Amino acid sequence: MSEALFSAIPYVAAGAAVAGVARRLMARAPASAPTPWTSSGRAILAGGVIVALNHLLGLLAPRVMQAFNASPGRLFTLEAVSLIGALLLAWGLVGLTLRRAREGQWRTAALLGLLFLQSCSGLYLAVALRWGSAWYVHVVVPYLRSVLAFQPDASLLAQAPFVVQFHTLFGMVVLALALFIRARPEPVTAPLLVTPREETAR
Ligand code: HEM
Repeated sequence: MSEALFSAIPYVAAGAAVAGVARRLMARAPASAPTPWTSSGRAILAGGVIVALNHLLGLLAPRVMQAFNASPGRLFTLEAVSLIGALLLAWGLVGLTLRRAREGQWRTAALLGLLFLQSCSGLYLAVALRWGSAWYVHVVVPYLRSVLAFQPDASLLAQAPFVVQFHTLFGMVVLALALFIRARPEPVTAPLLVTPREETAR
């Protein structure tokens, strides 16, 4: 991937994320009854927390992660727990994507589908390029930190396999787009012509 992509995509994604947050704040819906958690929602929450913690620990405390991974037993445990989180996340995302598609909420389904695609590329990374939490701090974290310091330097990441580069850049894009997902499903509007029998069957 070209240097220009590594330099531009993080900031374009950050701009989109700001727009997504602003849109949410302006379109705040009136409080309504809380929607019950589905099994897909619970899987996304549990898997998402595990995967996010793994990603954030390497970025925010790379030395702690390095020290933790110094023992093969701990490295194996972290990888196994991350893999379980990844499977839960992917399973939950499939369920929710299909549900939104069945409800005809195509935009939400498409955005959830992109998150699923990103989770699949993460799963592929975790399985095909093993011990990711060990190389993550040396290959990807320096790039992420250089982006945060407004001096993007992708010299190490540019030598990594394509799937690592894709997962990193696409991850930024889907994180920004995720802010455009409707938290609550759109209300189902009753058709204008409903017979009394259909009404009671609802
Ligand atoms: C800037 C954004 C991101 C970067 C730099 C990044 C980087 C990485 C790296 C290096 C790995 C391999 C680590 C390992 O195997 O332990 C990984 C794994 C993974 N990533 Fe990401 N990722 C990003 C965003 C995302 C997002 C938004 C998702 C979810 C939609 C995601 C889902 C996963 C999953 C499921 C795994 C495999 C399990 C795990 O190791 O945690 N990633 N990611």
